[in-house]
Amino acid sequence: MSGPGVDRVFERLERLYAIGGGLGANRPEYSPEEDEAHELAAAWMEEAGLEVSRDGAGNLLGVRGEARVWTGSHLDSVPSGGRFDGALGVVAGIEAAERLAGTPLAVVAFRGEEVGCLGSRACCGGAGPLPAVFVELHVEQGPRLEQAGAALGVATGIVGYARREVRFEGRAGHAGTTPMDAREDALCAAAEFVLRVRRAAGGIEGAVATVGRLEVEPGGVNVIPGGVTLTVDARAPDEERLDRLLAALDLAREPRTPPVAFDEGVRRALAEEAARLGVEAVELPSGAGHDAGILAAAGVASGMLFVRSLAGGISHHPDEESSPEDIALAVDVLAATLNRLASSTRIDRV
Ligand code: HGY
Ligand code: MN
Ligand code: MN
Repeated sequence: MSGPGVDRVFERLERLYAIGGGLGANRPEYSPEEDEAHELAAAWMEEAGLEVSRDGAGNLLGVRGEARVWTGSHLDSVPSGGRFDGALGVVAGIEAAERLAGTPLAVVAFRGEEVGCLGSRACCGGAGPLPAVFVELHVEQGPRLEQAGAALGVATGIVGYARREVRFEGRAGHAGTTPMDAREDALCAAAEFVLRVRRAAGGIEGAVATVGRLEVEPGGVNVIPGGVTLTVDARAPDEERLDRLLAALDLAREPRTPPVAFDEGVRRALAEEAARLGVEAVELPSGAGHDAGILAAAGVASGMLFVRSLAGGISHHPDEESSPEDIALAVDVLAATLNRLASSTRIDRV
């Protein structure tokens, strides 16, 4: 990796990570913290010689020439997130764009990826321009590459997923005077459902489901919970298994984000450019949702390059980790692939 290299990538990731303070990355969608991250990235894009603009959804674009090929990711984070999720794709994209001076290219930071890919959906819905080709670099966020001893992976596609909010209505009451057989305790009903979610996903090959947030009302220590609202994040490799999972939980079929396959030509370009640099990139599906999946579903020839997550692949956690050596390789492969895609004359010869 030439130029200021991977040191600058890590310095920039640290600058983004420090925004908002607290444990881990804390840059909620459309928050002052995400705005601050966008301002930093905009300055870096200008340093790289890109023309900066924002579309109708607040997505940040750094463009050079007639850019058919875009790269990038997101700068929002989950609460107490890691250094690399999203941020790596934007910072590495800027690094690659600087290295490919003269190549028509765009780097994008999509808004609100963690809460439903808000920015990339808006972009695909007309909030701004759309490319013909999109390549996203992202940490794997799982253990597969580490287990395989592989630095890089090429994603085959993304699983299908659906998010639901579920309400449990009980009756608040006095914790001390209400007999146990006279209670309508909303939290007990919710607790049984949470374990049902785990059982249902555990019974379907490749499915996962999570209750990530649960709010109890009125929330008094000495008050029987009268109401609970919780969220369900349900995912499965195909529509049929996602149907089964949602049905097992008596949840509606729609809305959902269907499973999506990435573009064969982009996958081939990533694998061949990795091989040319002496790296065998492992093919693997993505259990995580990404902006590239939204663009792929909208007809943009999209693909993803994964870099090995260390520490057992932990993510959505401050311990998220990837090595400078692997990231240097990833930026080299990303730059080579973007250059190849940008110089190919037609999409189907990517
Ligand atoms: O939740 C996801 O799959 C992604 O990290 N937004
Ligand atoms: Mn992400
Ligand atoms: Mn994420």
